[in-house]
Amino acid sequence: MIDMLSKAKAGEYAVAAFNILDYNSTRAIVNAAEELKAPVIVQVSVKTIKVWGYKAIVSWYRELAEESPVPVVLHLDHCKDIGVIKSCIESGWTSVMIDASSFPFNENLELTKKVVKLARPKNISVEAELGEIGGVEDDISVNEEDAHLADVDKSILFCWETKPDLFAPAIGTAHGVYKGEPKIAYDRLEEISKRTEIPIALHGGTGLADDVFKKCISLGCAKINISTQLKRQFINSFVDYKNQNPDDFEPVRYIDYQYSQLKADIEGFIRLFGSEGKA
Ligand code: 13P
Repeated sequence: MIDMLSKAKAGEYAVAAFNILDYNSTRAIVNAAEELKAPVIVQVSVKTIKVWGYKAIVSWYRELAEESPVPVVLHLDHCKDIGVIKSCIESGWTSVMIDASSFPFNENLELTKKVVKLARPKNISVEAELGEIGGVEDDISVNEEDAHLADVDKSILFCWETKPDLFAPAIGTAHGVYKGEPKIAYDRLEEISKRTEIPIALHGGTGLADDVFKKCISLGCAKINISTQLKRQFINSFVDYKNQNPDDFEPVRYIDYQYSQLKADIEGFIRLFGSEGKA
């Protein structure tokens, strides 16, 4: 992911990172990226690993990505469990996120250092988080009052000490569906990005306006996470197909419809983030 994201940062576009749910969503992501000649990140939540297991997910990834003409990263999303991170590293993930942001600063620092030490010799990239991003992700819920932005000086110290490949400071976005208009701390994002010189990950992509994405990319965001929109499309596509074809009980046609709906959403984000043609 390091090479992918340093090119994105320099070229002022962002690589889209989509949370997968199963094989159908994974192939929609990789095939959309191939059609648009875009680099892409396939990311996995811990609860998705608990459903399918490490081996199955890696086998989908290898099957789709190994022969692919575009670069595809397999990334572990938010995880504070070192055991799960180790298993991902051993199973074939190419990138991991340690999210110890709910712990006190020093504990976050130590855990992040530990993960960087495990991953770096194996050429696996590491994303780390500071501050608390609001909303619900992987069944971890942070309500609005508890969400807090990453402090600039602490971010610099944290990145200096831990040396992650990618940094996710909380800057006012939230996982899930936005209730009001999000207040993005652009000044903070700009300062953190300039002073750390590390590509920034933007979490909580679903529901942000196009101009918010564009501004965040111009200020240093090189990876943008999209999960909720695909989760909703995953379910709604089946429901819509059933409503339009109440007598159809052939699952393969549902799967095809779901695939095309997911792929259309994915292509929209890739175009919006400017990564089309950048593979
Ligand atoms: P959304 O669910 O808001 O799209 O956020 C995704 C995310 O940031 C995953 O880490």
